[in-house]
Amino acid sequence: MQSPYRYDVLALDTADDDPIWAAYVNIFRTVFLDGRATPEGVGTFRKHRREDGAVLGMVTTEGPGLDGRQPVAGFNVTPTTINQGRGLRPALIVNTIGVLPSHRRRGLLKEMMRRQLDAAREQGMAVAVLTASEATIYGRFGFAPATRGQQLRIDTRRFAYRDGVEVADGAIEFVEPSFLADHWERITTAHQERHRGAVGHTHAHFLVDTGAWDSDEAGPSKNLRAVVHFDADGVPDGFAVFRFKGWDEAPQATVFKVCAPDAPVERALWRALAEMDLIETLTYDLSSPSDHLPLSLADERALKVTGISDWVWLRIFDLPAAVDGRAFDGDGEIVLRVVDRMGYVDGTWRLTASGGLGSAEATDAEPEVTLGVDTLALLWHNDHTAAQAAEAGVLDGSDEAVRRLGRMLRWDESAENLATF
Ligand SMILES: CC(C)(COP(=O)(O)OP(=O)(O)OC[C@H]1O[C@@H](n2cnc3c(N)ncnc32)[C@H](O)[C@@H]1OP(=O)(O)O)[C@@H](O)C(=O)NCCC(=O)NCCS
Repeated sequence: MQSPYRYDVLALDTADDDPIWAAYVNIFRTVFLDGRATPEGVGTFRKHRREDGAVLGMVTTEGPGLDGRQPVAGFNVTPTTINQGRGLRPALIVNTIGVLPSHRRRGLLKEMMRRQLDAAREQGMAVAVLTASEATIYGRFGFAPATRGQQLRIDTRRFAYRDGVEVADGAIEFVEPSFLADHWERITTAHQERHRGAVGHTHAHFLVDTGAWDSDEAGPSKNLRAVVHFDADGVPDGFAVFRFKGWDEAPQATVFKVCAPDAPVERALWRALAEMDLIETLTYDLSSPSDHLPLSLADERALKVTGISDWVWLRIFDLPAAVDGRAFDGDGEIVLRVVDRMGYVDGTWRLTASGGLGSAEATDAEPEVTLGVDTLALLWHNDHTAAQAAEAGVLDGSDEAVRRLGRMLRWDESAENLATF
C-alpha cells in the first residue's frame, strides 16, 4: 500500500466518545447505501464488537476533505467456531468489508484481507467464512460457497405432517423475545454442535434474536415475536423468532430463525407457527437444501422452495489443521495439487482418511488431482462432489482419482447453518 495509506486496527478499548467509531461504522453505511449511523447505532456496533472480541481492521489516510488521518476502508472480523464434524474448532468470520468509493481499486481490500488472514492463521485458525454481497469478489481470495441457503414459502392451510412423523411433546408458548436471553446461548450452541457446517453465533445475533436490536428500527425491535418449546422438565430446548407481515397480501408471517438441536422439536415449533389463526403464509430464508421439513409434510406442495442461494463462503488457509478439524466418512488416500494464489495452502499434499480422521502432509509425490483452493472449499461441506467440479472444468484428474477424492470427501450428514454474517 502506498503512503499515505496505512493499515491499522481500531482498538476495542478506544474511548466511547472518540469520533473514529462513527467514522468507522459510516464506511459500511456508505458502501452499503444506508443512511448515516445514529449515535445509538454506533453504540450498538461498539458493544457487540467488544462482546465478540472482534478485530476492527482499517486503512487510514489523510488528504483534502479529511479531518486529519481518517479511516477510509474497514474490514472487521470475529473469532468464532465451526463444526466440520470433529467438534467446534476455531474459525474466522469476515463480517463486513467496505472501501469508500474514493479509494476503491487501489488494493485496500487485498491488503486488509492479507493482514486479517495472516493474523488468524497465527492464532491457530484454519478456515474463514463470509457471506458475499457480490459473487465475483471473493474467489480470487480463495473463498467459495460451501453452504447454501434455501428460501421457503409455506401455505399454512395445507400444513400437516405425514402419519408417523415424530413431533416433540412438551409445551409451546408464545413469549416476548427477551425471554430467550437466558436460554439463547445454550440452544444455539446445541444446534451448532449437532450440525456439520454450522458456524457460531455472534453477539449481534443475540441482540437481534432477543429483540434488543433491530437495524431497520435503529433500536429495540417493536415487532419481533418469539415462540419457545419446553422439554418435559419445562426447560426451553428450541425457539423460533418471527414477525407478522401484515394484511397487504394474504396474511403472512416472516420467520427469521427456527433453532433446536432436535428435528422433532423443530417440527413442534413449525406446527405452532403454522397453526396461528389468520396466518395463511409463512416465509423463511434460513432453510438449507437438506432441510428435513419438506419431506415430513403430508402435502409436499404445501411448501414451495422459492430460491436457493450461496450462503457461507469458506476459505481454507491451513490445510493440515483444516483436515484435522473435518470428519471423513470415507477412507482413502490421494495426492492433491492445491493452487492458492495467496500462497497459504499452495503446494502438493498427501491427503489420507481412515476411521473418520484425516491428515494432510506436504509431499513431492506426483499429484493425482489438481484444483484451486476455492474449488476445495466448494467440496469441503459437500456442496458439490469432486466429479461435479471435474465436469465443470475446475478440477483435473483421472476419472478414478476424481471418484476416489469424491468418496473421501463425502459426508454422510448434510451441512446446515443458522448463523448469518
Ligand atoms: C468490494 C470492495 C470491498 C473492493 O475493495 P477495493 O479496495 O476496491 O479492492 P482491491 O483494489 O483490493 O481489489 C482486489 C481485487 O479484487 C477485484 N475486485 C474488487 N472489487 C471487485 C468487485 N466488486 N467485483 C469483482 N472484482 C473486484 C479487483 O479488481 C482486484 O483484482 P486483482 O487482484 O485481479 O487485481 C469495495 O469496492 C467496496 O467496498 N464495495 C462496496 C461494498 C462491498 O461490496 N463490500 C463487500 C462486502 S461482502
